[in-house]
Amino acid sequence: MATNENQSESRTSPVTSYDFPLKKIPKRSCKDPEAIEFIRKSEPVILTDTNLVASALHWNLRYLADHMGDGNFTVYKSNSHKFKYYSDKKCKMVKEFKPPTQQTEMTFSEFAALLRQKQKEKHSNERIYLQQALNDSVGKTIVYDFVNFNWGWLNEQQKLNNWGPLTSNLLLVGMEGNVTPVHYDEQENFFAQIYGHKRFMLFHPDQYKNLYPYPVYHPHDRQSQVDLDCPDYKKFPNARNLTGYEGIVGPGDVLYIPMYWWHDVESLKDQGETISVNFWYMSGPVDQIETQISAQQKMARDKKF
Ligand code: SIN
Ligand code: FE
Repeated sequence: MATNENQSESRTSPVTSYDFPLKKIPKRSCKDPEAIEFIRKSEPVILTDTNLVASALHWNLRYLADHMGDGNFTVYKSNSHKFKYYSDKKCKMVKEFKPPTQQTEMTFSEFAALLRQKQKEKHSNERIYLQQALNDSVGKTIVYDFVNFNWGWLNEQQKLNNWGPLTSNLLLVGMEGNVTPVHYDEQENFFAQIYGHKRFMLFHPDQYKNLYPYPVYHPHDRQSQVDLDCPDYKKFPNARNLTGYEGIVGPGDVLYIPMYWWHDVESLKDQGETISVNFWYMSGPVDQIETQISAQQKMARDKKF
C-alpha cells in the first residue's frame, strides 16, 4: 500500500505516500469562526496564527542543548523508522510481547550529540526520538519561553470547549523520517510545531472498524494492529476501506487533534530534525465522553484477539 517505505529506496517525496483516500485537514486563522466551530464539533483543524509557541520559535537543537539543563530526558531507540508506543505497565499481560523500541535516559546535550552522530552515520539503522514531559528541571531561559506561551488563548479554548485541566506538555524531538504509527489518545490535544515539519494523517474515531485496535489489556492498547506501510488484508480486510485526512505542520502551526481521533505522524524525510510540544487536556464532563467513543469501539478494545 505504501510507497517509499523502504528507507534505502531513492525518495522523490518528503513524505510516505499511501493509496487510501486522504482529504486535506482544513487550515485556518484561529480567529476564523469556522475554525472555532471545528474545535467545538471535535473536528481537526490546523491553526496558523495562534502565537501559542511564538516565544519558542527560536528553539533549535543547539539552543535546547545549551539551555535545557542537566535533567534527564526519555529517549526511545528504534531499529526502524517506526516508534510504536507501548505501555510499560501492560508488558507483563502478554507473555510473548517484545517491546519494539528501547527506552533510555540522558541529558539533552547527550541527546543532541547522539542525534548529530546518527545524522552522519549513513549505515546505522538505529534511530532516536526524545519524548519527555516538560517539568521544572529545565533551565531558566526555557522556563521564560514556556511562561510566555500564549496561555491566554489556551485558557479561552479550554473554557469555550468545556475541557478539563491541562495534564501535560510533551516535548518531542525527532529525526527526519521518524514515524509515530497510527494510534489515538484519550485526551484533547493542541499539537504545536516549533522546528521542522511533520505530516499528520488523521482518521475519524469511527474508522476503528478499519484500523483494528489492540485489545485494551495489550501493551499496544490504543494502537492500530494494521501496519499502514504494509497492511495484512487477510487478517485485517476492512483496512481496504480506510479513509482519512492529511496535513503538514510547520513552525508556528497548531494542529487540534480531537480526543479519540486516530493519528499517524511522520517527520518529513531529508529535512532535518523536528521539535514539537503538545498540550494535552482532559475532556469535559462524562456525558460528553460517552458521545465521543461509541459502544462498538469500546467493545472492539475489550475483545480478545
Ligand atoms: C509525534 O509527534 O510523533 C506523536 C505525537 C502524538 O501522537 O501526539
Ligand atoms: Fe498521539
